[in-house]
Amino acid sequence: MSESPHTPEAPGPEVSGPEALGPDALGPDASGPARPKGEPRFPDGPAPDPAGSHFERRIRSFQPRRSRVTTGQADALQRLWPKWGFDIDGQRVLDLDELFEGRKRVVLEIGFGMGEATAQMAADDPDTGILAVDVHTPGQGNLLGLAERNGLTNVRVANGDAIILLREMLRPASLDGLRVYFPDPWPKKRHHKRRLIQPEFLSLAAVPLRPGALVHCATDWEEYAEQMLEVLSAHPYYENTQPDGGYAPRPAFRPLTRFEGQGLDKGHVVHDLLFRRKDTTQD
Ligand SMILES: C[S@@+](CC[C@H](N)C(=O)[O-])C[C@H]1O[C@@H](n2cnc3c(N)ncnc32)[C@H](O)[C@@H]1O
Repeated sequence: MSESPHTPEAPGPEVSGPEALGPDALGPDASGPARPKGEPRFPDGPAPDPAGSHFERRIRSFQPRRSRVTTGQADALQRLWPKWGFDIDGQRVLDLDELFEGRKRVVLEIGFGMGEATAQMAADDPDTGILAVDVHTPGQGNLLGLAERNGLTNVRVANGDAIILLREMLRPASLDGLRVYFPDPWPKKRHHKRRLIQPEFLSLAAVPLRPGALVHCATDWEEYAEQMLEVLSAHPYYENTQPDGGYAPRPAFRPLTRFEGQGLDKGHVVHDLLFRRKDTTQD
């Protein structure tokens, strides 16, 4: 994320690799020897651009970037992707009941980064399925590895743009919660349009969220926190859980995230926002 101060770093020994998200990856990396141009990096793993040309190019809240995949992450991607991962191709509607083996509650987390906090929340609440979405290949491998090592069976990893997932692949009223922790702040004014938390995004998310579903956002970027509070408070489909209409104390179920730690090291103040999807069926 070149223009953002938030840049995930893959832990562990790095193996040099090409552009993770570009279809023309070349050269040696953790997934094996040099590949001919155009050949996928992980044949049975996440696709470089899963929705491809099926959907119009929109302003994206993420930026494809060079990323290094460690041998452990590559191994997890190769072995576990067929079982626990899927591409956001926008071509089918998901059966969450089947995907999460009958779990009654499913929450969506957008932008899990390296996935440590996601794995922690999954371990703390095994009856809730976590649909974890990101475009970041090392993070996908990291989260799959964490899930396996910790015996977690309630995490599924989705590769691609969460907007397409929300718009094309989820049934109405199928989610019990939405988590967006430390989304890219896109600090430059000309990039504010790339920020995820906007009125249009909230309207899109309102469809798969059940009435009463908790929408939980957190950021260490003061001015983005103000924007989140403003757009969430103004949106007709959401209500603040806080009687004073302000920020929420950090709930015990949210662990410290990697980006939060980086923000705190810089002296940033973290804000949590806890809203509910209103029941609009009577309106
Ligand atoms: C700044 S990082 C935060 C990661 C993590 N939540 C944390 O706090 O450590 C934001 C992440 O959101 C992902 N992201 C941004 N927009 C996205 C989208 N539309 N769909 C899927 N992932 C997205 C980025 O790839 C990045 O990994």
